[in-house]
Amino acid sequence: MARRAAGEPIAYIRGFKEWRSLRIKTDPRALIPRPETELLADAAIREVAATLAQTDVPVVAWEVATGSGAVAVVLALEFREALQSGRLTLIATDLSPDAAELAAENVAAHGVGGSVNLEGGDLLEAAGARLPRPDVIIANLPYVATAEVDTAAGSLAHEPRLALDGGPDGLDIIRRLLDEVPTRAAPAATVLLEIGTDQAAVVRALAPAGASVSFEADLAGIPRVVRIGLSDSNA
Ligand SMILES: C[S@@+](CC[C@H](N)C(=O)[O-])C[C@H]1O[C@@H](n2cnc3c(N)ncnc32)[C@H](O)[C@@H]1O
Repeated sequence: MARRAAGEPIAYIRGFKEWRSLRIKTDPRALIPRPETELLADAAIREVAATLAQTDVPVVAWEVATGSGAVAVVLALEFREALQSGRLTLIATDLSPDAAELAAENVAAHGVGGSVNLEGGDLLEAAGARLPRPDVIIANLPYVATAEVDTAAGSLAHEPRLALDGGPDGLDIIRRLLDEVPTRAAPAATVLLEIGTDQAAVVRALAPAGASVSFEADLAGIPRVVRIGLSDSNA
C-alpha cells in the first residue's frame, strides 16, 4: 500500500503485467507493456505472416527496443514452426542491458528462449554486419518529449527514462531509426512503429522518400501504429 501510495506502478509491485493474455515479468529494468502496444503486436503478426506468404526465402523480423520482450514473446509463440524450420529469424534488441536481461527472462519463461536472438545494441547498427538485414522491423521507441518526462508523475516517474525520453519533440529516436532504415534494412522492408497520440503527420513526413505510409487507429480512433513500406528504390 505504501509503495502504491508513493506512485509505484502496480505491475512493478506485483512483478508482472497481464498483457495479451500473457504473464509478462515487470520491474524497473524496463517499461511496463501498455495496452496500445497490443495493437503493434497484432500488426506485427499480420506483417510477418504476409511476408512469409510472399516469399520462399528466409525472412528476418527484428524488434528494435524490445524492453520487457513482450512483443518478441508474442511473435516467437505465434511463429514457433517457422522459427524452428529456419523460415523465419527473430531478432530482439535493446540499448539497455537491464532491459535485454529482463527480455531474456521473459522469453525463457515462455519457453521460446531458443527462438529469439536477443542482443544489446543501438537501433539497427548491427544490421548488415553482425546481424542480418531485417525484412520486417517492429519498434515501440521512446516517443515522449523530454519536458513531459521531466514533469512525469505517477507510473511514468518510476519507469526508465531511456524507455520514454524521445528528445525535445519526442521524435529523436524515431527520426534516427527512419534515417537508418534505407541503408540497414533489406530492400522493400516494412517498418511498424507505435507512435504518440499527435505524431502521425510528422512521422508521415519523416518516412523515406517513395515509401508507402499507412496508419492503424486505436479504439479511440487515434492513429497509433504506422506502417512504412519501403520501395526497392529506397535500398
Ligand atoms: C517505449 S519502450 C518499449 C519497450 C517494449 N518494446 C514495449 O513496447 O513495452 C522503449 C525501449 O527503447 C529502448 N531504447 C532507447 N533508445 C534505444 C536505442 N537507441 N536503441 C535501442 N533501444 C533503445 C529503451 O531501453 C526501452 O526499452
